[in-house]
Amino acid sequence: MKRVYMDHAATTPVDPIVAEHMMHCLTEVWGNPSSVHSFGREARRVLEESREMVARLVGARSNEIIFTSSGTEADNLALLGVARRLARKGRHIITSTIEHHAVLHTCEYLEASGYEITYLGVDRTGLVDPEDFRRALRPDTILASIMLANNEVGTIQPISEMAAASREAGVIFHTDAVQAMGSLEVKVDDLGVDLLSLSAHKIYGPKGVGALYIRKGVRLEPLVFGGGQERQLRPGTENVTGIAGLGMAASLAARQRASRVQRIQSLRDMLERGIKERIPGVTLNGSPDRRLPGLLNVTIQGVEGESILMNLDLKGVAASGGSACAAGSLEASHVLLAMGFSRDDARGAIRFSLGADNTTEDVERVLQVLPPIVERLRRMRQGAGYGY
Ligand SMILES: Cc1ncc(COP(=O)(O)O)c(C=O)c1O
Repeated sequence: MKRVYMDHAATTPVDPIVAEHMMHCLTEVWGNPSSVHSFGREARRVLEESREMVARLVGARSNEIIFTSSGTEADNLALLGVARRLARKGRHIITSTIEHHAVLHTCEYLEASGYEITYLGVDRTGLVDPEDFRRALRPDTILASIMLANNEVGTIQPISEMAAASREAGVIFHTDAVQAMGSLEVKVDDLGVDLLSLSAHKIYGPKGVGALYIRKGVRLEPLVFGGGQERQLRPGTENVTGIAGLGMAASLAARQRASRVQRIQSLRDMLERGIKERIPGVTLNGSPDRRLPGLLNVTIQGVEGESILMNLDLKGVAASGGSACAAGSLEASHVLLAMGFSRDDARGAIRFSLGADNTTEDVERVLQVLPPIVERLRRMRQGAGYGY
């Protein structure tokens, strides 16, 4: 049975070109980038080439890119780094209720350490209102962190408007662009952001490596201490192989994004149409027009999302409920709850996230196996006395 992977928001397969480049670096470029001899210099060259590729992808200068161990670490470094650096200036931070836990849990930690956090709500489609953002700015606000695109429903936020308001108020603006990279044209100057997080494994690179863009002049406190690597902001001997993978993935994303995205979006639209035509009682979650091109989050009324996912898995189809870390626990998604869903409706949501490796046959396979699964689950539920 050919398996179908439609969970690219959780992670993407490693592009063979990325894998080949990493294998070369792993076996041939094993020097320590801090060494001054030729072995070290070769590793340093790989690091700096990768930095240049990541910088080019986001329209930054290479000395504005710091490599980290993940998107999570980039988010932590942005939030904790600014909060600690500017603690004497103010202790108020603005974020939204639908951020990834890498931001939300860091904010909760800061709250427990004496900072005050404003969590902006969202509308039914997952959008933050820039007017709410403006109203939340205060004289003691030091930092704002609003994600570029949401990982569960794909809603794309009006970042440039909020970043402009932030700049006017002298407040540092961070965006978590982990899900947006590779799908949207992301340029730090167009967005007007000061800090931006990204992660390799969402753009066909390896897991365990990410980067933080830090606009020239923005100062952060480091989270770890040691040698002088990464301008002392992220000391520790660099993960040269992983960083090489991120660099190559970024370079491929820059070259292939437009054509990849067009294909992925037309497959996503085909899946969306097919599901709506074949299954009654389906509603789209998130914004119909301001949405990541590969993302389709739907509620299928009268059935538990988890039951659908298990049955799809038995047929070799991989999709997801809320985010990957929320899946497995039957917790309703904090994103859907923030969008005003009831716990029951939130539990009925499933997310298909398509990627570069998906084909028309994959979409046809999902459209073939999903309707009978839903029908059977609904019959079982009606037998148990629940209508929908
Ligand atoms: C929006 C968002 N931010 C941050 C992360 C964390 O990235 P990483 O898995 O590299 O730690 C993810 C991963 O799911 C994400 O979707």
